Amino acid sequence: MNIHQNVSLADKNTLRLDARAEWYCEAFTVEALLEAAEFALNRKLKVISLGEGSNIVLAGNLAGLVIKNRIPGVNRDAEVVHVAGGENWHSLVRSTVSSGLFGLENLALIPGTVGAAPVQNIGAYGVELGDTLLSLKAIHLPTLEQKTFSKAECELAYRDSLFKRNDEWLITHVSLALSKVSECVTTYPGIVSYLKEHRLDVTGESIAKAVTHIRAGKLPDPLRIPNVGSFFKNPVLETERAEALAKVFPDLVQYEATGGKKLSAAWLIDQMGLKGFRVGQFVVSNQHALVIINEGGGTQGELFELVGVVKQKVKYTFGIDLEIEPRIYPDGF
Ligand code: EPU
Repeated sequence: MNIHQNVSLADKNTLRLDARAEWYCEAFTVEALLEAAEFALNRKLKVISLGEGSNIVLAGNLAGLVIKNRIPGVNRDAEVVHVAGGENWHSLVRSTVSSGLFGLENLALIPGTVGAAPVQNIGAYGVELGDTLLSLKAIHLPTLEQKTFSKAECELAYRDSLFKRNDEWLITHVSLALSKVSECVTTYPGIVSYLKEHRLDVTGESIAKAVTHIRAGKLPDPLRIPNVGSFFKNPVLETERAEALAKVFPDLVQYEATGGKKLSAAWLIDQMGLKGFRVGQFVVSNQHALVIINEGGGTQGELFELVGVVKQKVKYTFGIDLEIEPRIYPDGF
């Protein structure tokens, strides 16, 4: 196991923020991962687990050991797939869809690894990971204990889980309960119109195709244009508060949600005329108001100044505190 010191993470996060890891390694097996975790334990180093870096903001240099989980492997047992954390999420979607298993088609083209998927409880177009998650395996970094979590124990919520709030666990494997029977979710209007326009039947393949088309049209590709997808969560407001706001702003975009109404953060930001707003090299995407892009060499200072302006304007006009969606490192920044 090669553990390196003072490693640049600039090419290991899709926002391309420049920050360094005090220690860094890549683990291709559970044994290697345990070895790295033990190395950290012996030196009292904090461990930060990294996937493809597509949903993190590196606010500064990271003290401790950054472990990139690169464990490969997909095993199918009837309708259940057991997947190692280092696998690429979209490749998994492609392979399950093409082998006739339903459940992941709406989650096509989401960047990142399988191990990172439960942390955020990734979701899109009416489906989230929690709809198919059966269980997962994780290592408890302070004790090196390996534990299997049931779905309930993962405490999944909208873009949230136990693992987002508690980084003592490193996810090694994820098991998903898929289905041979079509239970496709076509609630998102864009999917329906794509299928209609292209005269496609509802199949896993056609939904994945529709989702890929919609995403590619709305969201800049993080591999070409540095970004982390949605930068803010869609805020959930109590129904009365949302209704009062809708009286003042009749075009307010809102959906039913647990605990009230979910508002569109993109709409709120768009209404502020912030598309194209820039601070240094960071700019609010002209394609989608929820996406912040690094045009090259942008600094943490520029990013947080831009985020501050967006939050302030939305707060001033709508009285809403936007919450940042990706994880920010180091903790407590
Ligand atoms: N809208 C605007 N301006 C924009 C973009 C959108 O006003 O620039 C309004 C439109 O009215 C649009 C509505 O916002 O109908 C919703 O936009 P969209 O369908 O793109 O969805 P979203 O709420 O902005 C969420 C997720 C996405 C996910 C899509 C589709 C969050 C924070 N984001 O975005 O997830 O792909 O729904 O289900 O929940 C991600 O988490 O990184 C992500 C991309």
